[in-house]
Amino acid sequence: MKTFLLLSLLLSSLNALDAFTSSSVCQKCHPVIYNEYYHSQHRKASIFSDPIHKAVWDKHPYKKKGMYKCAKCHTPNDKVILSKLEKHEKALPVKNKGQLEGVSCVSCHNIKSIEKHARSNTNVITSNKHTLYSARESEKNNSDKKYKMQKSLFGFVTKKSGSPYHDIDFTNELFYNGNVCMGCHSHKENAHKLQVCTSKITAHPNSEKENCITCHMPKIPGSFTTLRDTKTHRFHGFSGVSHKASMLRQYIKLTYEKKPQGFDVIIYNSANHPLLLHPLRVGMLKVSIKRSNKNIALDPVKFIRIIGKDKHPAPPWVATEVLKDTQIQAKEHRVIHFNTDLEPNDELIVTLGDYLVNPKMAKKLGLNKPQFTAFRIFKEEHFNVK
Ligand code: HEC
Ligand code: HEC
Ligand code: HEC
Ligand code: HEC
Ligand code: HEC
Repeated sequence: MKTFLLLSLLLSSLNALDAFTSSSVCQKCHPVIYNEYYHSQHRKASIFSDPIHKAVWDKHPYKKKGMYKCAKCHTPNDKVILSKLEKHEKALPVKNKGQLEGVSCVSCHNIKSIEKHARSNTNVITSNKHTLYSARESEKNNSDKKYKMQKSLFGFVTKKSGSPYHDIDFTNELFYNGNVCMGCHSHKENAHKLQVCTSKITAHPNSEKENCITCHMPKIPGSFTTLRDTKTHRFHGFSGVSHKASMLRQYIKLTYEKKPQGFDVIIYNSANHPLLLHPLRVGMLKVSIKRSNKNIALDPVKFIRIIGKDKHPAPPWVATEVLKDTQIQAKEHRVIHFNTDLEPNDELIVTLGDYLVNPKMAKKLGLNKPQFTAFRIFKEEHFNVK
């Protein structure tokens, strides 16, 4: 009976797998991954689920022109919008299934290759409608894993392998070296040839050992499917500034060093990209000294990338230059000097954090709620001064 059910699911579904396939279909057999993904920014990437994206979109000149060009990366499942944009027709987001999917399961698992372009890269999607790409070292040469059921000699035990819903191609290098992320996350250039956002990873390219996947999708306990018992799966909540930032703390080191006058705080960023990437973010270092009953707060230090025009800050579609960039770069040891002398028995408190939305921009965007504008602690260290 169970076999029959699986077989009929198989027959009815193999051809149905296309970019519209809703992530909730995958939920049946991959509930742990689906649940993590549900809370991720990828699921929430549309204007209907991300108030920050909506606020910027509402001010964007493309909205007046009626062209939701953000779809390429934010809602790649909405094929209606994408095909209209290709024909240079007007296309605005409406609250339909394709939009609400955001960056869906299939929008990543069917990326065959990445085309490099100056404005932004493009994901090339496989035309094979029932194969998904994935990585597994032990099957790296298998480009077409199909579902198989083998009965043992006496017919009591059935050995299954593969997925009854989809075939799997394990040979796509992008899924091993993290470059599958670079179709959307590499860079975005505006009409004035300014890179509004850039991960600058050409300086420290992804490697099989360390890449976007190893840090943002670590292996954690729990089986990746209900039909098999694997000990671990890759985290699909995509830890980042907005969600589960605590999972990334280990990649940033905070230390201090006493100097003849004052002391240095050293921030080491082991990521292969600047610590904060989106131009709306502002990083901040807060340092204070606890001395007997006193608390001495030192001047905070900001990390920010400001884009603008004619020496004044300007929105992404107007900006022509980078006015200032103090963001902590990839693999950088940032040394920040404080003139205050430390004394024995001081407790030095070093706090690194950020604002999701630059408070100055938040006002203009109408994003006034504390969830957008409050200072959020990313990592804090307490040192006992000797
Ligand atoms: C080339 C791909 C690409 C295009 C096109 C694109 N974005 Fe994005 N966008 C991203 C990526 C990747 C992120 C996540 C970056 C990060 O967090 O550093 C992002 C994040 C954002 C955020 C921050 C969201 C948050 O919750 O903090 C805003 C706002 C945003 N995009 C607005 C837009 C708007 C408006 C458009 C269209 C006019 C657009 N983007 C087009 C790739 C793109
Ligand atoms: C009927 C159950 C079922 C459904 C529905 C299903 N899968 Fe699977 N999937 C499996 C099974 C079982 C495996 C493991 C196959 C194996 O290990 O031999 C698997 C494996 C995978 C893998 C590769 C795992 C690896 O080892 O790297 C990916 C990726 C994947 N599924 C994604 C999806 C996505 C995306 C969807 C929704 C479009 C989906 N699956 C829907 C059962 C299912
Ligand atoms: C060595 C670990 C490491 C690697 C490798 C890595 N990251 Fe990160 N990533 C981080 C850390 C740490 C942060 C900062 C989190 C914070 O401050 O809350 C971060 C932040 C981000 C953010 C949020 C930035 C923002 O401003 O919203 C995005 C998006 C991101 N990484 C994508 C990527 C992509 C794409 C790759 C592959 C090119 C990658 N990361 C590689 C550790 C890593
Ligand atoms: C942003 C891109 C992206 C999205 C969205 C995404 N995945 Fe993945 N997924 C990956 C990458 C990359 C891997 C890593 C391959 C590896 O190293 O195993 C992976 C691995 C997997 C695996 C197998 C490996 C494991 O150990 O976990 C399964 C199963 C899977 N994904 C299913 C899903 C399902 C189901 C969804 C939607 C609920 C989904 N994925 C959404 C990129 C994505
Ligand atoms: C189809 C385009 C696309 C692909 C492929 C993609 N992303 Fe994203 N990603 C986005 C967009 C768009 C956002 C911003 C969504 C939002 O906040 O509105 C985002 C957000 C994120 C964030 C959250 C940043 C934050 O502010 O917390 C992380 C982390 C991230 N992506 C990592 C990855 C990794 C790792 C991969 C590769 C395995 C990947 N992405 C592949 C489009 C993509």
